[in-house]
Amino acid sequence: MINLTIDNQQIEAEEGKTLLAAATLAGIDIPTLCYHPAVPSAGACRICVVEITGGGQPGLVPACAYPVQEGLEIQTESERVVASRRMTLALMLARSPGATIIQEMAQEYGAEPVPMDKGDDDCIMCGLCVRVCQDVIGQSAVCFEGRGHERKITTPYDKQSEVCLGCGACAFICPTGAIDPADYCPHPLETIPNDFNCGLDTRTPIHIPFPQAVPNKPLIDRENCIHFITGGCEACKQICPADAIDFDMTDEYVTEKVGAIVVATGYELFNPDVYAEYGYGRYPDVVTSIEFERMVSASGPTTGELVRPSTGKPPKTVVFLQCIGSRREQGGLPYCSKICCMYTAKHAILYKHKVHDGQAFVFYMDVRSGGKNYEQFVRRVIKEQMATYLRGRVAKIFPSDGKLIVRGADTLSGTQVEIAAEMVVLAPAMVPAAGIRNLAQTLRIGYDEHGFLLEAHPKLRPVETNTAGVFLAGACHSPKDIPDSVAQASAAASKVLGLISHQTLTREPTIGIVDEETCNACFECEGACAYGAIGPKELKDRKGEVTAVVAYINEGLCQGCGACAVTCRSKSIEVQGYRDDQLFAAINATGR
Ligand code: SF4
Ligand code: SF4
Ligand code: FES
Repeated sequence: MINLTIDNQQIEAEEGKTLLAAATLAGIDIPTLCYHPAVPSAGACRICVVEITGGGQPGLVPACAYPVQEGLEIQTESERVVASRRMTLALMLARSPGATIIQEMAQEYGAEPVPMDKGDDDCIMCGLCVRVCQDVIGQSAVCFEGRGHERKITTPYDKQSEVCLGCGACAFICPTGAIDPADYCPHPLETIPNDFNCGLDTRTPIHIPFPQAVPNKPLIDRENCIHFITGGCEACKQICPADAIDFDMTDEYVTEKVGAIVVATGYELFNPDVYAEYGYGRYPDVVTSIEFERMVSASGPTTGELVRPSTGKPPKTVVFLQCIGSRREQGGLPYCSKICCMYTAKHAILYKHKVHDGQAFVFYMDVRSGGKNYEQFVRRVIKEQMATYLRGRVAKIFPSDGKLIVRGADTLSGTQVEIAAEMVVLAPAMVPAAGIRNLAQTLRIGYDEHGFLLEAHPKLRPVETNTAGVFLAGACHSPKDIPDSVAQASAAASKVLGLISHQTLTREPTIGIVDEETCNACFECEGACAYGAIGPKELKDRKGEVTAVVAYINEGLCQGCGACAVTCRSKSIEVQGYRDDQLFAAINATGR
């Protein structure tokens, strides 16, 4: 370790570290422009100069490039340092008067532009873009060209460069925002839509999927990561203080043996672009409710500011359309999605909170507000937020004069209405998550014609399925709001605890029994059992020699469905409690 003093503070630093790294670790702030921890330092801009006042050759040195040395005494804000930064900034201000960061730093250090020809761009010639492209990305698509006043950043021969990947690293790292890779790149720039924000903004290849993700850790998207494309970059690895980046990690399948499974696969939204009359996908100001939700969220693409995608300005009139795909026997889904009435009311309130002088209209079929305080909430939206509720469907949306004309029916007044809206929010139906049918078949549980999973009994066993040990929670079972999903999930968790907190498994006695004397081991029953409960069993004599093989029913797996009993041609299987003689006795007793 190296001992030195920075601003009269005793500091220990690892050998090979720069003065900037040592000062940063000690909480001492030194301004920088041409420095980035992932890019080799060049000491080009000289904003980070500090003064060596003892322990070495006195003078000004760039902190980002000068290594720590034993016994050095450093001042980071001495008169000489401040004067040097002021002069540097005065030159930069003269060259790039429009660069905001330079204006701010110049003001802080009291720098005035020196008299010289004004530059016409914001580039301060720090070369960070050239270094990141060459040393980190490994492409060398941009370079310096010319001398003196003519010096500029460009591509070889001033032509768009085929080697430019369009990764945007240069634009990302440029301290003044002076560079636009589109000038250099002959192909479209790489932008990765941010799925969590419904593609309304972009993300980087290394990213945390969404705020509050569990685990709240970044992941690398291999398809877009420069390292996996070119073998270069590794910028994240260089700057990660925890040394946590491992490019060799691969996806793995994990196998666990469990006693119970809770299926909570959630839902997706019906795709509203099947209804051409609403113009979703054609008109940028027609959005879905989930897109609206992200727009008004503080962690959303506009950090909570509600703006029209087409103009970037707040919408003064918003029309909300409920039941998009729901309750539609023809060309849609027959069921009610249950949550849309209430979240539309919430959206109308949020809209009024964001745009105080805005007007909200809601087209509805019925307002289904069956929940604690739900009806009062909707009344509040109508009375206090002055949202206009219109009962009827919308027939057509079309653009006119920069607005969207929403033409629909108001069935209560029996009139046709037209509203000139600046944004339209569709509330699409809830549908089960993709792949739910495959999962259901794997778990051997039932599902309805829409793909929602079936409970064992709608009243008596609403969270259990026909397969013992598999439970349901949330919208995989049916459209549900958050309180209902939480209630069902709590019930499922209690059922699981009831199962695994006992030493022995108790279960219903209605299971299949094999008559070993008559079973002829054809094993047709094995294929008929949907629960995989039937297998072979060897019968042995006293000497331990196998005398016969018969079917065996695993009592833990058998669900008592009786499929095996009706399949067995030798009538060797019966379901306990449902033997033929018992059923006939029951029928006879009923007929008396
Ligand atoms: S474009 Fe930006 S990063 Fe490149 S030299 Fe100019 S100021 Fe520095
Ligand atoms: S966008 Fe092009 S010029 Fe800029 S860093 Fe990437 S490859 Fe280099
Ligand atoms: S930041 Fe150190 S010389 Fe530019």
